[in-house]
Amino acid sequence: MAIDAYQPGKSQVAGVAKVHKLSSNESPLGPSPRAVEAFLRSGGELSLYPDGSASSLREAIAHRFGLEKSRVICGNGSDELLALLAHVFLEPGDEGLYSEYGFLEYPISIRAAGGVPIAANEVDRTANVDAMLERVSPHTKIVYLANPNNPTGTYLPFSEIKRLQAGLPLDCLLVIDAAYAEYVGQNDYAAGIELVSNCENVVMTRTFSKIHGLASLRLGWAYAPEPVIDAINRIRGPFNVNGPALAAGVASLADSGHIERALDHNRRWLPWLREAARDLGIGVTPSVANFLLLDFDETGTTAAEADAFLSSRGYILRAMNAYGLPSCLRLTVGDEEANRGVVAALTEFMSDRNG
Ligand SMILES: Cc1ncc(COP(=O)(O)O)c(C=O)c1O
Repeated sequence: MAIDAYQPGKSQVAGVAKVHKLSSNESPLGPSPRAVEAFLRSGGELSLYPDGSASSLREAIAHRFGLEKSRVICGNGSDELLALLAHVFLEPGDEGLYSEYGFLEYPISIRAAGGVPIAANEVDRTANVDAMLERVSPHTKIVYLANPNNPTGTYLPFSEIKRLQAGLPLDCLLVIDAAYAEYVGQNDYAAGIELVSNCENVVMTRTFSKIHGLASLRLGWAYAPEPVIDAINRIRGPFNVNGPALAAGVASLADSGHIERALDHNRRWLPWLREAARDLGIGVTPSVANFLLLDFDETGTTAAEADAFLSSRGYILRAMNAYGLPSCLRLTVGDEEANRGVVAALTEFMSDRNG
């Protein structure tokens, strides 16, 4: 009962017919048409259990990223894998570490496994390796780091991730959650594959929910040392990933053109939205993902008022109270109509306030 249930982004507003859901970092381009086709085709096989080892998808992932198939595991969303890792690594009373504004599933997973969540302070809404290492104790058995992080959108260069790993004891697992890796263009960024390959205590998780546009199917994967894969396989549901998700995942990986288009869209609209928000005097973190954290702290108004106004116009953003960021709203990059519309609505809201 100490756990506050995760609150997903809203998708409806009472009395508003047309809404733009910009609250869950979903892809405005949707899935690859090839993934949809594979999903529909799998409709003919719904009476059969899926391949519990997710062999075809693990093969496709290994091929696409140059990985060892035996070290790839698939999950019912990366959420499932994040939770299973806590169950594998935490005994009651052990500590799980994450950064101050880290993804909320981490403290939930840690608590659900009987562990004690410990949050390390951030600097400029960015995870801080020194602060994290300072909070490591003999009881710390798992460290979660989203890179880039949700909801801040900020990231750590690979050199810092390596420094974090180097400072952890070998019996403490580092989980690099790279759900937004595909969006990052910075040269000093790496999702973590190299570190998993070279270290016994590092896992990288990925998802099909963001740039692949398959959030509804619940599909994620992890690259991990074989003993970790073995431990997860012992406790996961035997058919944790459903057949339509497996089929769509394989097809989506084969459509690199679709991923490129989604990336181009984000490269165009993320800076556009960021500049528009800045021009309105709203604080913005330097996000490298597919969303922005807007801060209304110094605007003379509040995030709650902005949220109410934008909702009434059909733009659903994500309130950040659960993250301890009550002055902020998180805005997902939408399609062109949504992006232009939400900026127009924000402009109207801010000019009403200012004048
Ligand atoms: C940082 C981060 N990790 C993991 C997830 C969960 O992704 P999935 O849909 O694969 O469970 C999300 C979803 O918002 C996320 O933001």
